[in-house]
Amino acid sequence: MRTITVAVPGSEYPVWIGSGALARLRPFSRSRGLPTKVFVIADARVAKQHGDRLRAELDRLAVPQSWILVPPGESSKCVSMLDRIWRTAVRSGIDRGSLLVAFGGGVIGDLAGFAAGTILRGVDFVQIPTTLLAMVDASVGGKTGINLPEGKNLVGVFLQPCAVCMDFDFLSSLPPRELRAGWAEVVKTAAIRDPGLFAKVERNAPAVAAGQLSVRSLAEIVGRSVEIKASVVAADERESGLRMILNFGHTLAHGLEAANAYRSLLHGEAVAIGMVFAARLGEELGVTRSGVASRIDSVLAASGLPTRPRGVSAASILSAMQRDKKRGPRGLRWVLLEAIGSTSIADAVSPELVSKVLRRFLSEGATESGRLDSSGARSPSTRKGLR
Ligand code: GLY
Repeated sequence: MRTITVAVPGSEYPVWIGSGALARLRPFSRSRGLPTKVFVIADARVAKQHGDRLRAELDRLAVPQSWILVPPGESSKCVSMLDRIWRTAVRSGIDRGSLLVAFGGGVIGDLAGFAAGTILRGVDFVQIPTTLLAMVDASVGGKTGINLPEGKNLVGVFLQPCAVCMDFDFLSSLPPRELRAGWAEVVKTAAIRDPGLFAKVERNAPAVAAGQLSVRSLAEIVGRSVEIKASVVAADERESGLRMILNFGHTLAHGLEAANAYRSLLHGEAVAIGMVFAARLGEELGVTRSGVASRIDSVLAASGLPTRPRGVSAASILSAMQRDKKRGPRGLRWVLLEAIGSTSIADAVSPELVSKVLRRFLSEGATESGRLDSSGARSPSTRKGLR
């Protein structure tokens, strides 16, 4: 078990990482003063699989608990679900001393975090991420919010949790495709900040594709990813500078997700495709060292992730990207790699160049689609993601 501290101005909180991390929740709650009530905002599928364990743990705190179940999937990150959470919590007697617990993947963390930041003008919340993606990215750093039909994460607040509990036991039921999607954010973290972690990710990629990643490797890799994210967030909580680098791959990804109306691609899969595209664009601009794009492409492909979009037109992606909130004074903002481990931000990339590189990129996807399965993944492993 490992504890990493995230320290942003005005708040400092622990991230517990490893099997059995849930046991840390009770002593932590006691040490900071018990909440009046606990409201668990849970992914309905996760609640079915692991809810008894969390419920038993919370029972031992002996404070009233209410559960609000949310259907799995990105489409739950919407204003009507938020409205349901607000109103159910109010009807169930939430007060300013209550604690919200986000129990699920990134969708739940973002939704519950936003509910915590807005209900009664703010109550405390704890993140219990149950997907790899939420562990290595979404649960740390205080970004919360919902999507609009116009685009991803367009409404939200920054609100740091009081603690993040990453218990690997919850990953046991994670579908392999979702484990691989989370792995894409690990690849991202390594690519932007740490050549050593990137090399480790390359070595472990075949094990991820085969559903054979050892818990020991996972612990090392998640630990390092969280350390990197914590250091970036500590330096720039509100994304006015350094934190933008965490959006590597996300400019195209958010366009792809909006163009597909959040249906066919998992977020991590869209980020995988977006990273290859950003590396290609960077090479075209002469910012990214030659060969980096193919290294990114190879590690993602070896991990069983899709690397080209399918079934979506350049025009719809380009139009969805125009609504992205990641814009600088001179246009859409791109996070580019100079090399593995170092980044550069560009907001004056000509739309004509983006369109040209995108059309070429899409045509490569069309030629290789015969080799992909219906999810877009290259290696259709049905085994569990961990051993
Ligand atoms: N997911 C990117 C960030 O937390 O800034």
